[in-house]
Amino acid sequence: MTRETWATRIGFILAAVGSAVGLGNIWRFPWVAAENGGSAFLAVYLGIVLLVGVPGLLGEFVIGRRANRSPAGALRSLSGSNVWGAWGLFYVVTAIALISFYSVVGGWILRYFVESSLALAGTGPTYFANPGQYFGGVSAGLDAVGFHVLFLALTAIIVLAGVRRGIELGTKVMMPAVLVLLVGLAVWAGTQSGAADAYAFYLRFDAATVRENFFGVLGPAAGQALFTLSLGAGTMVTYASYVDEDRSLAFDGTTIALLNTAVGVLAGLVVFPLLFSLGISPGETGTGAGALFVGLAGAFSQLPGGVLIATAFFAVVTLAALSSSISMLEIPVAFLVDEYGVERRTAVAGVGSVVAVTGSVCALDPAIFGFVAGTLVDILLTAGLTGFLVFVGWVMGRDALDEFRSGAGGVATALSTPWLFAVGALLPVFLVFTLLTTFGMDARLGFWPTVATAAALAVVIFAGVRGEPEAA
Ligand code: PFF
Repeated sequence: MTRETWATRIGFILAAVGSAVGLGNIWRFPWVAAENGGSAFLAVYLGIVLLVGVPGLLGEFVIGRRANRSPAGALRSLSGSNVWGAWGLFYVVTAIALISFYSVVGGWILRYFVESSLALAGTGPTYFANPGQYFGGVSAGLDAVGFHVLFLALTAIIVLAGVRRGIELGTKVMMPAVLVLLVGLAVWAGTQSGAADAYAFYLRFDAATVRENFFGVLGPAAGQALFTLSLGAGTMVTYASYVDEDRSLAFDGTTIALLNTAVGVLAGLVVFPLLFSLGISPGETGTGAGALFVGLAGAFSQLPGGVLIATAFFAVVTLAALSSSISMLEIPVAFLVDEYGVERRTAVAGVGSVVAVTGSVCALDPAIFGFVAGTLVDILLTAGLTGFLVFVGWVMGRDALDEFRSGAGGVATALSTPWLFAVGALLPVFLVFTLLTTFGMDARLGFWPTVATAAALAVVIFAGVRGEPEAA
């Protein structure tokens, strides 16, 4: 059976943007930004997206397009080593962990969308009356399980239809809709009374705040940068594996990162004015899932035309979440199809059933949900991206350069050698460093000892990888 490919270049770009743009931009970004000082976070985050995100994204693209296989098969076939093949299974596990919690949040969003649209004809939706209590009631338990399964089923239907007729077609419809609706909402939010304060909080670049908070903000900003660009799970390897023409990966990757960042910033321009207009200070409302739902639902309930705005908002978020969850489900599905010749239908049914169960566990137990959505995902993505980049730098080496250059223009070609150095050496040290800070090492030992440990660990990893037998 021949392997599917994207029908068009824009199809690939939109699918990758669709994966990147999701709950990470609309739900996670404004809140992590708020908790970390607004504009200071934004500045550090943008720096990391540019210096770590874009080169990292290109690393995943290079692996995928070179191998035309999903992560596990790609690492094994390019290296000729079963050890790398086994490491590839890590990405299947990561994808399952991701979608398990993601489809629970997707389920909440879907529920709010359904509630809001049903209320369009009549009075306000039920969650208007007491947003906090309502969210508490539906966010965990059987209700949450039901909507998680529904959201997962929608995801599965798109993935089932395949690369062209499912993922490509779906994202071609969904992404423009997301953009148009979001711009509309941002313009409307700008007319609200709190808009000026919100913009000041969010956009006023204050060098002193950045300097004072730099190291505190680094960890969360790095985690958010990986999550939002869908890096470290193998989604971008998988999507690039369906690219069959030699065109500039550097151009495509930069476009994808720019569009994704624009949507993140845009989401902030919707969320912050709404909260400020109600006098809700984003830094105080607490972290995580509930904050967006409770804060925004409260805002919608008090604004004229709130039901309509709420319906549009939750529609955007549902579409954005779906175009990301399909990219997560595609990883284990492509693994079964590529490596074991399983039919797509069977693979989707099999993986879908597993995630229905693992996601239900997250939906039933908020403690497990919190752990998976937070620390576990941060660790898996950071370790995962480190693995890919070490592979590009130390196993592919020259082949990676060739692949990077094929189809690339003059600027990208000139940057290819510094790129390889960055992904092979600098970025792994940085990623190991952020991993150590996730475990709190910097707080215990101090900054420089942590940097030294990260560098030493990275060197050990490089030496270990060099010792592996070369491709046959
Ligand atoms: N980038 C997605 C978002 O911002 O919502 C989340 C995501 C998708 C993370 C796919 C990882 C991934 F592989």
